[in-house]
Amino acid sequence: MFKTPRFRSIAGLALVGAVALGLGACSASGGGDDASGDGGDIKTIGFVAVGPEGGWRTANEKNIQDSFSKENGFDLKYAPATNGDQNSQITAFTSFIDEGVDAILLSATEATGWESILERAKEAEIPVVLLDRGIEPNDTELYTSHIAPDNVGISASAAEWANEQFPDGANYVVLEGPPGLSVVNDRNKGWDETIDANMTKLESQSANWSTEEAKSVFETILKANNNNVQLVFAQNDEMGLGAALAVEEAGLKPGTDVKIITIDGTKAALEALAAGRLSFVAEYNPLFGDTAIDVVNKALAGDKVESDIVVPSVTFDSPEAATEALPDRKF
Ligand code: AHR
Repeated sequence: MFKTPRFRSIAGLALVGAVALGLGACSASGGGDDASGDGGDIKTIGFVAVGPEGGWRTANEKNIQDSFSKENGFDLKYAPATNGDQNSQITAFTSFIDEGVDAILLSATEATGWESILERAKEAEIPVVLLDRGIEPNDTELYTSHIAPDNVGISASAAEWANEQFPDGANYVVLEGPPGLSVVNDRNKGWDETIDANMTKLESQSANWSTEEAKSVFETILKANNNNVQLVFAQNDEMGLGAALAVEEAGLKPGTDVKIITIDGTKAALEALAAGRLSFVAEYNPLFGDTAIDVVNKALAGDKVESDIVVPSVTFDSPEAATEALPDRKF
């Protein structure tokens, strides 16, 4: 399954639930009055963002801000959450509605609790595009489109690789992101549906996307299991790098004694894969600003927009694959 070529692509573009947008009442420049005020065609976009969280988030939010530039006809208002707090996001979201922006981009810090504010945006006829994070329940009537790589497919590919590495089974640990997030639920779903029955899950714990926390959590787990752990499924790069530090502190060799899988595909992870400290890196492509622009422009023009747009991603399963990809790596 994992023959060279050196990396595999996952889940090409899946167009699911194409939805004709009933935004007829929406002016050409978006909901409410033209926020630019001068009748020009600058579109004002409210970006309700997560804010500093790690390498992937930095790359994604920079790409969105670079894409929705003045040169491209946008005035993007960036509103990062305060310490990952959903209430600060809802406050910013409300201000954007009251301001009458043309469209709102949302990367949610929580999966639930969005219904009423999304209803308000709908009443104001302001299109909302979900970036990366989904909402639960996933009511596609409450937003225009969701754009993200395929979390279920990505973690299923990681599990397929693990099955190939350990045909006779192994003990493994899952290091999760913050509980309840849509991406965490989907990464667990793809993994659990695919991993072979002879693979034994010893523990599944959140390390909150953090290298330090993952090192501490995995140190404890290694000690509690007398180092009898052969595999770690870390749901992002930072946690996988933390697990590698714990393995080394225990006098073990990452890649040999303990294989570590990560998701995101940042430069730091590919460098660790090239050095043999990680064993498998599944990209969660953060660079989809162009796609987001296309969706916003179509929504504001009243054109048909897919309700769920899957961003293609690749996987890296060897030091050679990582070494080959690094020179052109954009994040
Ligand atoms: O929602 C995407 C996840 O959030 C990334 O995998 C992780 O690195 C980020 O913090």
